Amino acid sequence: MYNKSYQCNKKEKEVKTMKRIGLLTSGGDCQALNATMRGVVKGLASNLDELEVYGFMNGYKGLIYGDYRLLTSKDFSGILTKGGTILGSSRQPFKLMRVPDEKGLDKVEAMKQNYYKLRLDCLVILGGNGTQKTANLLSEEGLNIIHLPKTIDNDIWGTDMTFGFYSAVNIATDAIDCIHTTAASHNRVFIVEVMGHKVGWLTLYSGIAGGADIILLPEIPYKIDKVIEAIDRRTKAGKGFTIIAVAEGAISAEDAKLSKKEWKKKQEEKKYPSVAYELAEEIQQKSGTEVRITVPGHTQRGGSPCPYDRVLSTRLGVSAAKLILEEQYGCMVAIVNNKIKKVPLKDVAGKLKTVAPDDQLVQEAKLLGISFGD
Ligand code: F6P
Repeated sequence: MYNKSYQCNKKEKEVKTMKRIGLLTSGGDCQALNATMRGVVKGLASNLDELEVYGFMNGYKGLIYGDYRLLTSKDFSGILTKGGTILGSSRQPFKLMRVPDEKGLDKVEAMKQNYYKLRLDCLVILGGNGTQKTANLLSEEGLNIIHLPKTIDNDIWGTDMTFGFYSAVNIATDAIDCIHTTAASHNRVFIVEVMGHKVGWLTLYSGIAGGADIILLPEIPYKIDKVIEAIDRRTKAGKGFTIIAVAEGAISAEDAKLSKKEWKKKQEEKKYPSVAYELAEEIQQKSGTEVRITVPGHTQRGGSPCPYDRVLSTRLGVSAAKLILEEQYGCMVAIVNNKIKKVPLKDVAGKLKTVAPDDQLVQEAKLLGISFGD
């Protein structure tokens, strides 16, 4: 049990005018994490004399094990354009949060204890889907929580956009652009594998922006014959090369019919490093065409945030500050129809925002002649 004496009593609250907030960044990093934290802090106070900000190191790990530091104005200076996170990050799976650690520590109670020990007014949590589930759990446990939606995958339910997404779209698009120039010199099929975890937003946007000829998404299982048909159509039209943007989570129609267990077994037997390699072998075997693979990987999460993300993260950050000043908690700060909105965490936690196979953007891409292998 956490020590309740750490909680402020009513009298203490009256004399305690200075706000004390906690910040943490959890899960895979992305661009604009620092820009968002800067927005929160700048939105709360013009200088940190009026505010105490505790940064928990390496995501929930810092909150569990009490690894934190008191941040100063200097920490938030010059970080608008800085990629990564000044606090560090780690993956702490939600499904293990209720499982004691190897020394028997109750992680949820430990997080509560550290929150109360520092007498925080609230904890601002920056992260993706898994992070959000734990944020909701802590909110249900009675902590004052605000969640800010970060991920290059843009798969968080309840917000049109997550920060990091457009910066990653830029990088993936650059990769496809670079492939275009070399592709034009050779008669080959090029596959660019794009991140995005289980969803296809990043591949859909960068595929269209980079002028890919075929886009394969997890939400639209592909048929290899349709992919080859699309390559052949281009060859017949006199185009020497084809560019395929494939999402790392893309799956063939055949594999999509398998149970999770059967699919895992098949993957283990085939031992492809990723879907791009499986696809390349299938194309080569069935059509005899030469195939090359590019995997930009974690470069998509790296570097400076793009201007859109700097603006979005600043808007989300200062809006979180406004909610803290109004003492409104238990929510995610979202952007819907270009307006910043407060969304209850309990309504969104655990939901995934996927690409609908009949999404307008998919339909428009098809009108352009892009094949989705369906
Ligand atoms: O969620 C962001 C993301 O970059 C996904 O697109 C990708 O599948 C995953 O993280 C990679 O995770 P890790 O950095 O743990 O390898």
